[in-house]
Amino acid sequence: MIRRAGILVAAFVAAGYAAPNEGSVSPITLRAAAERRGLLVGAATMSGTLKDLRHAETLAREFNLVTPENEMKWAFIRPTRQTWNFAGADRLVAFAEKHKLAIHGHNLLWYAHNPPWLTAMPWTPAQTQQLMTEHIGTVVGRYRGKIAIWDVVNEEINEQGLLRKSLWSRAGTNYLSLAFRTAHEADPKAHLVYNDYGIEEVNRKSDGAYALLKSLKAQGAPVHGVGFQCHVEGNGPDLESFARNLQRFADLGLDLHLTEIDVRIKVPATPQDYARQARVYRGLIATALKNPRTKSVTTWGHSDAHSWVPSFFKGFGDALPFDARYQPKPAYEAMRQAMMESAPRH
Ligand code: XIL
Repeated sequence: MIRRAGILVAAFVAAGYAAPNEGSVSPITLRAAAERRGLLVGAATMSGTLKDLRHAETLAREFNLVTPENEMKWAFIRPTRQTWNFAGADRLVAFAEKHKLAIHGHNLLWYAHNPPWLTAMPWTPAQTQQLMTEHIGTVVGRYRGKIAIWDVVNEEINEQGLLRKSLWSRAGTNYLSLAFRTAHEADPKAHLVYNDYGIEEVNRKSDGAYALLKSLKAQGAPVHGVGFQCHVEGNGPDLESFARNLQRFADLGLDLHLTEIDVRIKVPATPQDYARQARVYRGLIATALKNPRTKSVTTWGHSDAHSWVPSFFKGFGDALPFDARYQPKPAYEAMRQAMMESAPRH
């Protein structure tokens, strides 16, 4: 199962791949620290941003995993019912192959970021099911063998811990199980994940995610991992609760992924804010890595030059480990330390 990602890292290491250190910001990059421990360390990006050399170089040097921030979402890939647009996704896959980064595909089903043609229609259950399976089969099939991890279902639990009444829920009672089975058929080796936000601590929402995953497992659905997005602020989640929560998902037989980490702070920020941010990064990652089922740690972007935070959280910014000039921040060092101190998982 997550052995997928483990094998992948092991293969890079066995091939003698070493992250280029020249001009690097520290003697051991995040990537090198992760690979020594059999871990994946990732960042989300848009393909257009890779035209900025500093962006591309930092990504290839510091990370061994990449998540397409937007370009595999329905709104991008499926502009109309009849047309597919894989251009951005293909560019990201090519970049990842060139620089030997694994890929975390994001995502196949989400209530948000869907094209207007899809959300406008009151599709029947049969049509919804058809759209869903056709989409998953096509996208996963196209990248079969190239995408190690897939977020099959994104954010389907609401704040009450119940399934959302999303457009996908019209597809019938076992629609999520069907989504995972379809993805598995299209690429039997891919590691399949349920991903959500606000489920880091033991709370109503994570109880809901836990119940969902338990029932999917009981139905025999090929779900292999759970993604904790970790879009956080302030002091971040309570770490004791986070550790306990991770463990209960691991006990279901799932691998654990931190999928979209960013720690937003009020801007302009003070040195104290950056120091506190670093402590939150360190706490999140060190706590997750204490659990042997944690296989990947991904930040939602890597430089403050490109982050969704300023436009989605008014007054906040500077949420990532590199500043807008691609210089490492205290949060970078905190990530590195947390990885260096973790036990190897080969
Ligand atoms: C965000 C992107 O970062 C933005 O560029 C986009 O406008 C909206 O989506 N949870 C997710 C991600 O699963 O896909 C979201 O990404 C952030 C929240």
